[in-house]
Amino acid sequence: MAYAAGVDVGSTQTKAVVVDEGQRIVGWTIIDTGSNVVTAAEKAFHAALKQGNIPDEEVEYVVGTGYGRYKVTFGNTQVTEISCHARGAVHMFPGTRTVLDMGGQDTKAIRVRPNGEVIDFCMNDKCAAGTGRFLQAAAFALEIPLAELGPTALRAEKSVPITTTCTVFAESEVLSWLGKGKKIEDILLGVHRSIGTRSMALLRRVGIEEQVTFTGGVTRNQGMVEVMNQMLGFKVNVGEEAHLMGALGAALFALDRVMASRAPVAVKEGTS
Ligand SMILES: Nc1ncnc2c1ncn2[C@@H]1O[C@H](COP(=O)(O)OP(=O)(O)OP(=O)(O)O)[C@@H](O)[C@H]1O
Ligand SMILES: [Mg+2]
Repeated sequence: MAYAAGVDVGSTQTKAVVVDEGQRIVGWTIIDTGSNVVTAAEKAFHAALKQGNIPDEEVEYVVGTGYGRYKVTFGNTQVTEISCHARGAVHMFPGTRTVLDMGGQDTKAIRVRPNGEVIDFCMNDKCAAGTGRFLQAAAFALEIPLAELGPTALRAEKSVPITTTCTVFAESEVLSWLGKGKKIEDILLGVHRSIGTRSMALLRRVGIEEQVTFTGGVTRNQGMVEVMNQMLGFKVNVGEEAHLMGALGAALFALDRVMASRAPVAVKEGTS
């Protein structure tokens, strides 16, 4: 059995996916990227192999993606995360025409063709205000675990308007609302809505066409999923593998190479 793998070295977390010849996910992992990007890529890859009980030598092709894709030293080639998220999203949800990827540092809106090719994309410029970083800053300021952010925001009665446009000032704005007696859940809903508004602006720039598939680590935050559903007026696609979508897309590109290398060479008539 031959396998192919994708390693998505994100600014915050590194994801690895191994697929078999039937495009099924047979091993995967998510770890924190940390300060040593090369090590993170190796660790994630080997953990995914271990999880799927797959011998190293049976992986025929590896594609690196994400901001640290050139640090996947054992990779055979690199593909941008835009293309990988698009490919993964269309694979999981064939009706996808728009992708929203919310990661640790970047939020990207991507328009795709039915075959997964990228038509256009747009991302936040040098500013983490509409990304997972902003949520992490709020979690830190309010001293609540990241996993509690969404569920807490969903208990809100009235959203507090968050006006800061910079992650650096998010903490002080959140704390000042707390000082004014606002409830944590209402402040958090405001934080989620402010990220939602920024994401909607990115989506509008590429054009919103249904279905919209939501990818990246922030999809694990149910509050963010609900806010996007409300703002769009319809439900986004979110699968269990949403956080792995870039790595999955990379693994599928790797599998293309494995299959192409096996294709029989056409013999021209009369030349044999
Ligand atoms: N269990 C969880 N609950 C809520 N949020 C989570 C959870 N796990 C991860 N996240 C969010 O996901 C983010 C990381 O997502 P992801 O792995 O897609 O980012 P990345 O690919 O490293 O970043 P980028 O694409 O911007 O370079 C974290 O910053 C965090 O906000
Ligand atoms: Mg990413």
